[in-house]
Amino acid sequence: MTYPRKHLLAIEGLEPPHIADLLDLAESYALLNRSGKTQRDLLKGRTLINLFFEDSTRTRTSFELAGKRLGADVINMSVSTSSVNKGETLLDTASTLNAMHCDLLVVRHGQSGAPSLLSQKVDAAVINAGDGTHEHPTQALLDALTIRRHKGRLEGLIVAICGDIAHSRVARSNMHLLTTMGSRVRVVGPPTLIPAEAARLGVEVFHDMKAGLAGADVVMMLRLQRERMSGGMVPSAREFFRFYGLDAEKLAHAKPDSIVMHPGPMNRGVEIDSAIADHPTRSVIGEQVEMGVACRMAVLDVLARGLRRNV
Ligand code: ASP
Ligand code: CP
Repeated sequence: MTYPRKHLLAIEGLEPPHIADLLDLAESYALLNRSGKTQRDLLKGRTLINLFFEDSTRTRTSFELAGKRLGADVINMSVSTSSVNKGETLLDTASTLNAMHCDLLVVRHGQSGAPSLLSQKVDAAVINAGDGTHEHPTQALLDALTIRRHKGRLEGLIVAICGDIAHSRVARSNMHLLTTMGSRVRVVGPPTLIPAEAARLGVEVFHDMKAGLAGADVVMMLRLQRERMSGGMVPSAREFFRFYGLDAEKLAHAKPDSIVMHPGPMNRGVEIDSAIADHPTRSVIGEQVEMGVACRMAVLDVLARGLRRNV
């Protein structure tokens, strides 16, 4: 295993062997999970704290499940009922958790860079569970694992990431991971929702869904992240769906065996039609969630190996 760092703060900067090794390990955990077995000795005596300053269903529960399946003591800190509400700062909260000798700290925060800041203040290995519009590294890993399971590879695939790219940490982590692994990445959306950095990231930009989806192997839809928008960056939900929502007609432009992905939570009828989201052969949205547990087990395993080396 070649993972070079103490923390997992971003996909940017990881090299192909680091990513490939993490995916291979995650694949073995996916098989273990399907067999119903666990490995409760691996993180025995380790403490994992989930510190979520933003809402989450999938990421928080899958980190909890991943930690428990590997034998860690898992604590879910509910920020909404914590002393953060009494004015305690992020860094004071971190030192408090540090004093409890937490080993693995999983952090979601609305500010880009917050997990990185914490990683400089605590002894624990820090995992970024989504920071502002910056990165969501474990999401990109689980997406890559899901794609690899269906297509057998990442290299050379055409992946169209569609919708609100500008506000999406999922898109940013995926752009880094997929271009690093040799996929051909397209971003598709209205000009207001495509970030200026897209060209620098080595992806192709499309403003028309039919052109962007033409010949795609993978179609990844994103939620409109209105909580991160200032002012009217998009027309009504109905208009957005007409031009950028994924329905059968638009999907027909992608390859006939293309898969449809969505990180969740979905807004049905806004960025994706229900018939596509629930499509029995094309939609892999449920499998993404399943692979989320496996990838998070792999990340916890690898970071805990690093902690052992540092003792
Ligand atoms: N759940 C993902 C995130 O937290 C995507 C989304 O919220 O739309 O970034
Ligand atoms: N995909 C994702 O991060 O989902 P949650 O926001 O529910 O964790």
